[in-house]
This record gives sequence, C-alpha cells and structure tokens, in this order.
Amino acid sequence: MRGGSDAGREGSGDHLRHKVTITVNGVTTTHEVEPRLLLVHYLRDVLGLTGTHIGCDTSQCGACTVLMDGKAVKSCTVLAIQADGAHITTIEGLASDGQLHPLQEAFWEHHGLQCGFCTPGMIMASVQLLHDHPDPTDEEIRKGLEGNVCRCTGYHNIVKAVKEAARVLREQPAAVSEKA
Ligand code: FES
Ligand code: FES
Repeated sequence: MRGGSDAGREGSGDHLRHKVTITVNGVTTTHEVEPRLLLVHYLRDVLGLTGTHIGCDTSQCGACTVLMDGKAVKSCTVLAIQADGAHITTIEGLASDGQLHPLQEAFWEHHGLQCGFCTPGMIMASVQLLHDHPDPTDEEIRKGLEGNVCRCTGYHNIVKAVKEAARVLREQPAAVSEKA
C-alpha cells in the first residue's frame, strides 16, 4: 500500500496538496492529495483497494461505482477532495462478518458474471437500486443498472441475480440498510 505522499505526484509541489479525511469501509484515514486526484485513483493507488475497476475514460462503463454516503457514484467522476469527510463503501467493504452480501451470493449463484470485470460496479450500483426498489421489476433493474456496462453476460443473469438478492434482502433488511 502506498502512502498519501505518493498520490498524484507528477507535475506539482506540495503547496498544491489538500488534506482529505475519508472513511472507506469503516476505516478513517487522512492523506494529502493533489486537487485533481480522482476518487477511483485514491481508492486504488493510495489505499490499494483495487476491487474498484476502471473500464473507460468517458464516465460510461460504471465499473468504478462505489457508495458515497450511501449513494452510488461513479468514482471516476468524483475528485478525492470532493469526498473529504464522506463515508465510502467499496466492494471490499460489502461482506460483513465473513459473510458475502446477498448480492455477491446471488451474482455467484445465478452466474451474473463471466469475466467479472464489471461485477464490482454492478453490485455496488445494485445496492443502491435495491435500497430504492426493494422489490424491483425486471424493467426497474435494467433501468437502475443502465449506467453499468457488461460485455459478457447479456444482462439476463444479472437481472436474475438482483431479483434473487432482493428476495433475500426483503427477508433480512438489515443487510441493505447498513450499507446504503
Ligand atoms: S471507469 Fe468507466 S465510468 Fe468510471
Ligand atoms: S462479466 Fe465481463 S464485463 Fe461483465
């Protein structure tokens, strides 16, 4: 894991750095970062949380989706300094007490992934979706995930997985309210 002093090093002096304090998966740390450092790079390069993926440079694919104060955001569209004081949840923070989150279980059980590249973002976006729609229709799932691109699955099994997770979460709602 690299320290904050390495973040976004090229091309500027220390006087341009901003101190940010961000809680990620329940752990609060402070680092000095360049103002232009994106949240996705902060998570991956500063904190070493590489479960959050980067699949494009146009804010289109959703692979970088995380929860910021309970709302799904594309972390490639947020500056680390904009997350100062925020609570972030990444895919690494979704399981609790050694138990996979119901969405993680359901994606596994229902083959909602193939290469898995889109999966962290899909699952984080689905946490928000199920918070907003605890009993979603297929159409609501497809609409809720339209900002997340999958090149492999054709989406059918993703929809199935999200529906199954919704059913499980309706029976144990604490799991979703804790994370969203
Ligand atoms: S990396 Fe593609 S939307 Fe963020
Ligand atoms: S499983 Fe490969 S991109 Fe979605």
